[in-house]
Amino acid sequence: MGNTPNRSPTHRDVDMNRLAGLGMEVEELAEGGPLTTDRLLRYAEEQGKPVSHYYAAVALATELELPADAGPAGVTAVFCAGKCQSWGALDAIDEAVAQWERRGGGFAIGVRSCLDRCEEAAVCQIRTPAGTATLVRVKPEEVAQALDEALA
Ligand code: FES
Repeated sequence: MGNTPNRSPTHRDVDMNRLAGLGMEVEELAEGGPLTTDRLLRYAEEQGKPVSHYYAAVALATELELPADAGPAGVTAVFCAGKCQSWGALDAIDEAVAQWERRGGGFAIGVRSCLDRCEEAAVCQIRTPAGTATLVRVKPEEVAQALDEALA
């Protein structure tokens, strides 16, 4: 993992104990089938928690893999859910899931503990068959825009 930004954190991380508990929840959920965006979203809604917290738990507190259903356009949005949380990664993930729901799917969401651009947190990659765009210091509205472009 590289350096974190000189900029002051703008957001709070999910605390490690809480992540461990969320990780156990998603592991249990995974026993019932693949952790699709739809299943994670419905589960988070049932639990009354932000879906991004479960994505962070998948990346940081489990060995689980998310299904790579990149849809007909072959698009995957991959988010750092590690230290990037302190610079808004969770909001970016929540926006991606909101976009996924609004569109009825059509792309995959992935999470990692680091994407090696830590000094530019929050970091997201939009992977398409044409290549990968890395978004740095990413804001939710930029995630929405990048997905609009990738899925156009
Ligand atoms: S912590 Fe390294 S890119 Fe987010």
